[in-house]
Amino acid sequence: MKRRSLGRSALSVSEICLGTMTFGSMANERESLAILDHAYAAGVNFLDVAEVYPVPPEAKWAGRSEEIVGKWLADKPRAAVFLATKVAGPGGGWFQAPVREGNTGLDRHSIERACEASLRRLGTDYVDLYQTHWPDRVVPVDEQMEALDRLVEAGKVRYLGCSNETAYGLARSLWVSDIRGFARHQTIQNNWSLLNRRFEDELAEVCREEKVSLIPYSPLGAGVLSGKYQNGAWPVGARFSLYREYNPRGKAMSERFVNPRSLETTGRLLDLAREAGISPVTLAIGWTLTKSFVGSTIIGATRVDQLRDSLAAAEVKLSGDVLRACETITREILYPLG
Ligand SMILES: NC(=O)c1ccc[n+]([C@@H]2O[C@H](COP(=O)([O-])OP(=O)(O)OC[C@H]3O[C@@H](n4cnc5c(N)ncnc54)[C@H](OP(=O)(O)O)[C@@H]3O)[C@@H](O)[C@H]2O)c1
Repeated sequence: MKRRSLGRSALSVSEICLGTMTFGSMANERESLAILDHAYAAGVNFLDVAEVYPVPPEAKWAGRSEEIVGKWLADKPRAAVFLATKVAGPGGGWFQAPVREGNTGLDRHSIERACEASLRRLGTDYVDLYQTHWPDRVVPVDEQMEALDRLVEAGKVRYLGCSNETAYGLARSLWVSDIRGFARHQTIQNNWSLLNRRFEDELAEVCREEKVSLIPYSPLGAGVLSGKYQNGAWPVGARFSLYREYNPRGKAMSERFVNPRSLETTGRLLDLAREAGISPVTLAIGWTLTKSFVGSTIIGATRVDQLRDSLAAAEVKLSGDVLRACETITREILYPLG
């Protein structure tokens, strides 16, 4: 597995990162540990967790993903694993933010408490990358970056990152860090795939100019790009079959991912993958790795056997014709006006 650097740091991580959002919910503990073992043996040294995982949020599950990763980590050399986790922020999408003393934001107190609790569950005294999971536009950015910087100063966190951010939010936090002398964000973790290329509209420029790496999540569009939802299928056990009606923000999560536009794009990509003689999963993840702004692509799995095609993306060489076809298909459908 090749390594890449993150942001301005000298660190290098595997170009595929294993996401753990399903650990303790859609993947039980035994399966989760097997997924971790398999990915690690294949050279994946970068893990992504969050204080709110697993999803969907249920009180009985809160913090389980970090506990499972902590259990797995216990007999590994700590330095061999690059561990990323997140403090929640006000929430969105699949998760509801934990309430700490009546507060759901990224204030100093919440950031400190969240980090302590994550370290406890992970069974370690530092994390390599600490990310804000969801932006907070109420608490001043100065307070947020100062609180994060203190964690770096204290040695509890090595590097900082943000998630689900906008170009404005990222640029503003970098500016605050620079003028106040705080540690800066080295990474941004946003949804980016052949089904969602919004990152390229504005954020790619900020990342290129400021040397911040994208660590994209949902590179398979949460499973849609595997083709499993084509032709009206809702396969037994698949994420959006299980949570088809799950509706945290007025629109079912399944509709945001499984819709006529995403299915049409997927249909054309399935044909392309077939012609290229590779799995659509390998094509979708392999395509993300061709972009220089990507530090590491965060894959997800609910079963060990799903890793075969995802990990194959680290070895595949996509031809110029295939890459051009990916551009045409996604731009025609996602950006019909050019
Ligand atoms: N920062 C954020 O807000 C945020 C949000 C989302 C994700 N993330 C991070 O990114 C990670 C990955 O996200 P994701 O799970 O949405 O990524 P994804 O790679 O787009 O989707 C992974 C899912 O696709 C399905 N799948 C994978 N391989 C498959 C195969 N070969 N055949 C058929 N289905 C397959 C599985 O779901 P089923 O088996 O259930 O269908 C699997 O859980 C998460 O674990 C988390 O660490 C972060």
